Amino acid sequence: MRKKIVAGNWKMNLNYDEAVALYNDLKNGVELMDQEIKVIIAPSAIYLSEFSQSKNSRIALAAQNCNENKNGAYTGEISPSMLAALGIQYCLVGHSERRAYFKESNELLKLKIDALLANSVAPIYCFGEVLAEREAGNHFNLVKDQISKALFHLDEEEILKVIFAYEPVWAIGTGVTANPDQAEEMHGFVRELLAEKYDQSIADEISILYGGSCKPSNAKELFANSDVDGGLIGGAALKAETFIPVINGFRE
Ligand code: PGA
Repeated sequence: MRKKIVAGNWKMNLNYDEAVALYNDLKNGVELMDQEIKVIIAPSAIYLSEFSQSKNSRIALAAQNCNENKNGAYTGEISPSMLAALGIQYCLVGHSERRAYFKESNELLKLKIDALLANSVAPIYCFGEVLAEREAGNHFNLVKDQISKALFHLDEEEILKVIFAYEPVWAIGTGVTANPDQAEEMHGFVRELLAEKYDQSIADEISILYGGSCKPSNAKELFANSDVDGGLIGGAALKAETFIPVINGFRE
């Protein structure tokens, strides 16, 4: 059985007091929840050190980004080994905002994936099309390209460590959500790609999350799809009152 996962991407939000308050609220809320659901948050990197010292937390931590190099003169950057040394288990790779604003290519993302895996930090690999690509009917090709260029050099053991996150760019932060059929269709397509490249049993083990305006009112119907194994949540992850009900979307 593949893992059910709900991850919150805080992006560049929440000052220190707000971040600590939200973290504490989430810890208390999540403690009471279904242990089978893996809960991850990706706060701003400057909070990772403090949050990583929290004892008995069911909430795993992710970085939002890393550099692909081991160390050296890369001012402002954070290496995968720094994350690993703090016990950070996950790192987002290829979020559409990084692809768009920081011009991150599939080729660069491949290097980040390798650097993370070399340090036993699991990548959460984000991919998805912009609206024009969907309207042109090019979304499947585009997603295939994003996945194959950054990931298909990995061997079986390595690909099993990657969490996939389909995030149609037209749904991120817009309030427009992919309908459950659109999400299921793309998730099914990605699982087929994995089955073709590796094999069906590997494809069946990999969690594929949906991201893009996922919120309490639509989480349940999105998560009800057999190929949707959870969500990567932006706006609704910034408050315990909305993030916890999203996680509960799995059981209600
Ligand atoms: P959103 O963001 O939930 O605010 O649409 C999702 C994401 O960017 O990961």
